[in-house]
Amino acid sequence: MRSCVTLVFFFIWLCCFGNLTVMCYKIPQAKLEILQNGFRVSIPHETGIENVAFNINRNRPFKGFEPGEFSGRIRTQAANQWFFESQRHLQDDDIIYVWTDVQYNKSRYRSMSSPITVRQTTPGGPSQHSNEVQPAFTTERSRVTSEEPLITSKKPPIIGEECESSLTTIRNRNICKGQLIFEENFDGTELDSSRWRYEVRLPLDVADAEFVLYDTNAELINGVLKIEPRLWGNDSPDTNIRRGHLNLGTRCTANQNPQVECQRQPFGQVVLPPVLSARINTKHAFTFKYGRVEVRAKLPQGDWLFPLLLLEPLVNFYGQHPYASGQMRIAFIRSNLNLRTREGVEEGGRVLHGGAVLSSEANTRDTFMANTSQDQHFGETFHIYSLTWNDRQLSLDVDGKNYGTVDGGFAQKANGYNNAWANSNYMAPFDQEFFLTLGVAAGGHGDFSDDYVSKPWANTSPKAALNFWRNRQSWKSTWTSPALQVDYVRVYAI
Ligand SMILES: *[C@@H]1O[C@H](CO)[C@@H](O)[C@H](O)[C@H]1NC(C)=O
Ligand SMILES: *[C@@H]1O[C@H](CO)[C@@H](O)[C@H](O)[C@H]1NC(C)=O
Repeated sequence: MRSCVTLVFFFIWLCCFGNLTVMCYKIPQAKLEILQNGFRVSIPHETGIENVAFNINRNRPFKGFEPGEFSGRIRTQAANQWFFESQRHLQDDDIIYVWTDVQYNKSRYRSMSSPITVRQTTPGGPSQHSNEVQPAFTTERSRVTSEEPLITSKKPPIIGEECESSLTTIRNRNICKGQLIFEENFDGTELDSSRWRYEVRLPLDVADAEFVLYDTNAELINGVLKIEPRLWGNDSPDTNIRRGHLNLGTRCTANQNPQVECQRQPFGQVVLPPVLSARINTKHAFTFKYGRVEVRAKLPQGDWLFPLLLLEPLVNFYGQHPYASGQMRIAFIRSNLNLRTREGVEEGGRVLHGGAVLSSEANTRDTFMANTSQDQHFGETFHIYSLTWNDRQLSLDVDGKNYGTVDGGFAQKANGYNNAWANSNYMAPFDQEFFLTLGVAAGGHGDFSDDYVSKPWANTSPKAALNFWRNRQSWKSTWTSPALQVDYVRVYAI
């Protein structure tokens, strides 16, 4: 230790007072700030700095100057700072390791900052820097000499991870290509409310009106999110859904259509939703445009259920009409154990769909979704579902195998759907910010065509939900594994 410290002082002396041809730049200790939603690592600007790369690990020290869990090369300074931001939520007592690489007056410098312990995660509040009392040995800075030749060319090769510019943006902010911009592993016992929010509402935001009340919690079990739909009042008589009055009050999260999504008084054929389920989203915390989403999940099994693994638009940029602003499905099945059209086409849980939804009509629902089928119901085991969304197309994978693409140009292909798309980009309406949604739904008017054999309700009937409920003896027993289970969600910049 002593020799190390001595050596460092020797370098400092050599660098700053020795007979070197260039003056010495000393990389300052990186500063960590906890943001409302994520964190920022920064160093102050100094004349001569051309660009700065941050490599950041959470709870894992660097062995050398290897790429970090988060990394990015920043090419412009802002407000006299060079900073890197991530939407990763840090916890109290997380230890943040940072090494910084600075291009300064055509020379490269890099230094390991002292570890920073997160002591106070109040957004916007001060973060504590435990390094302030630590010895200086980790703040070594050295002109990169032996391992890395002194760089003098205009475009120096990058140490650590190169930041190639990415198509992906987060609220119009650029990030590095390939960067993991969102990761949720569902560790712990409670959903992280800084990233996910529960929806509490009767779904009437679009015409689908699935037969569900979203007003229950998910469970986190051994690192897996579990959302399990339940029958209203279990097996009690219809009176519950026919006579009860529902008012979600201030807990209601609907903002599209609060008059009908926050309360309901059953009358005549109109009933309360017969199924209770959970639905969560990242709208308040994480939205992005273009990227690759990867979800490892076990889909629900049970008649008339379907999983929600969605990207939904942050704002209804293209109007209020249902799906005018689009929806993307990372993975979708009709969870029925057996489901066929009258023509005999298999449409149950062995057929996986993914892609775009632009129509509220059940019989055109799949128009912009790719599909693949297998012998086993997709809800039998966990699979890795992925959606890659760029400015030309959507591309769908399951377990690393591509099963289809959906090209943009929707304005042309879906002529008459929405003229606003025609005046926008090729990928419209998928050229805006979207957020993640996870959940389980049942029935509804938009996902099960009236062409399916033994479907107990007609999509145009006001009695749809009631008829679905009345038929429960025939479908209830198929809900052997009705939960959606999600091991992780990751989003990468592309
Ligand atoms: C770096 O370059 C700037 C501008 O050319 C100059 O003012 C400064 O002295 C240089 N610093 C060092 C340490 O060489
Ligand atoms: C799967 O996609 C093909 C091509 O778009 C389509 O013709 C077929 O009807 C789809 N199959 C199912 C089961 O949806």
